[in-house]
Amino acid sequence: MSNTIQKYKDYVMTGFLKSVAPIVIDRASGVKVWDENGREYLDCFSGISVVNAGHNHPRVVAAAKAQMDKLIHCSSYLYHVAPVADLAEKIAHIAPRGLTKSFFGNGGAEAIEGALKLARLYTGKHEFISLHGSFHGRSWGTLSLTGNQGRKKRGGPYAPGIAFAPAPYAYRSLWANDPEECARQCAKSIDEVIRFATAGDVAAFIAEPVMGEGGILVPPTNYFREVKKVLDQHGILFIADEVQSGFGRTGKMFAIEHYGVTPDILVTAKGIADGFPLSAFTTRPEIAAAYKPGDHLSTFGGNPVACAAALANIQVMEEEHLPARAAETGEYAMKKLRGLQKQNPLIGEVRGLGLMIGVELVRDEKLTPANTEAEAIRDALLREGVLVGVGGVYGNVVRFQPPLIITKEQIDRALDAFAAALTEVSQPAAV
Ligand SMILES: Cc1ncc(COP(=O)(O)O)c(C=O)c1O
Repeated sequence: MSNTIQKYKDYVMTGFLKSVAPIVIDRASGVKVWDENGREYLDCFSGISVVNAGHNHPRVVAAAKAQMDKLIHCSSYLYHVAPVADLAEKIAHIAPRGLTKSFFGNGGAEAIEGALKLARLYTGKHEFISLHGSFHGRSWGTLSLTGNQGRKKRGGPYAPGIAFAPAPYAYRSLWANDPEECARQCAKSIDEVIRFATAGDVAAFIAEPVMGEGGILVPPTNYFREVKKVLDQHGILFIADEVQSGFGRTGKMFAIEHYGVTPDILVTAKGIADGFPLSAFTTRPEIAAAYKPGDHLSTFGGNPVACAAALANIQVMEEEHLPARAAETGEYAMKKLRGLQKQNPLIGEVRGLGLMIGVELVRDEKLTPANTEAEAIRDALLREGVLVGVGGVYGNVVRFQPPLIITKEQIDRALDAFAAALTEVSQPAAV
């Protein structure tokens, strides 16, 4: 057994995982990673949707190295440091209109927690509404907001003051053939949740513009406009959790841009710095002003190296037109996947935006989730040298979220391997 795998068994906490892939990743470049034996893999999961500009983008690496030679840490909130200022200015220019003030943390959950606290301080209200099937992190507060028992089990009881509304999961709804009606009904149910499941003290509604861990659920195009009408009637803020969908992943810099709605607070992490740990929440100046001296801080937040990497990463995204590339390559991939769907009844639905793509596998017309099949496909793809993810509330969604620089030839290679794995898994076991 590999030395590293043995040390994992002896010293790393992994009991919470069903399995860790039996490979040791040693190095990476662009869309490819290599294991310690020099075997090459095509990475179609990007380290859980993180390295959007590709692994070890030379400009991101150069920016981080240059910053490392000058200053690694001195607390970016006790003193001024240029990378924080430069990155915050850049985000103010690319974020939805009016969102010009950012706070930087280290990971997604931390940023969500900061955004929740800010929403409470600004509104003077205390409750939150979240969606069924959502995922917002693994801290206690963010698990409390998460609408998926699979992620919450054995961690409760959770925070009071959080109510859940149905997600616009059209495929498994009564309105499977009318997604816009599904969206209208789901938005209407938020009004009911406010009236029947809260104390009328709701500070914010939080949602992922495309739900990642929930199985790449793409709300119909009218959903957030309908939701916003309800929120505005009740004076409730909208927090867009773009931890997974942000930074070009869906074909726009931020997924909420597809919906013609501006959130009050935008939360980002994962793709922000091409793999360096960094997160942000960004809001309007009057909301940001609700944080008074002493209200918030993070020791490592706004790390200069991570911020310098993020700035270079965003410049790369703009200059290499990565969101547009994601839109085009994503369309190409989904067309091919829909072709496969016609030949294989195991594929219930292909859905996605840009390069945030999910293939929901079902066993029959009752949509029985094919979760073991999804895992078997992921494992078969690993053996073929292709990394993908598995997710969804029922664990039956194969996730393709490659770096946005992936070429059509690489997509072909990955999807040929997927088609072969699908056939292998669909065949009845030999007696
Ligand atoms: C939508 C969303 N929000 C929050 C998080 C939590 O981010 P982190 O794991 O960096 O704390 C995730 C992680 O997958 C996520 O997908």
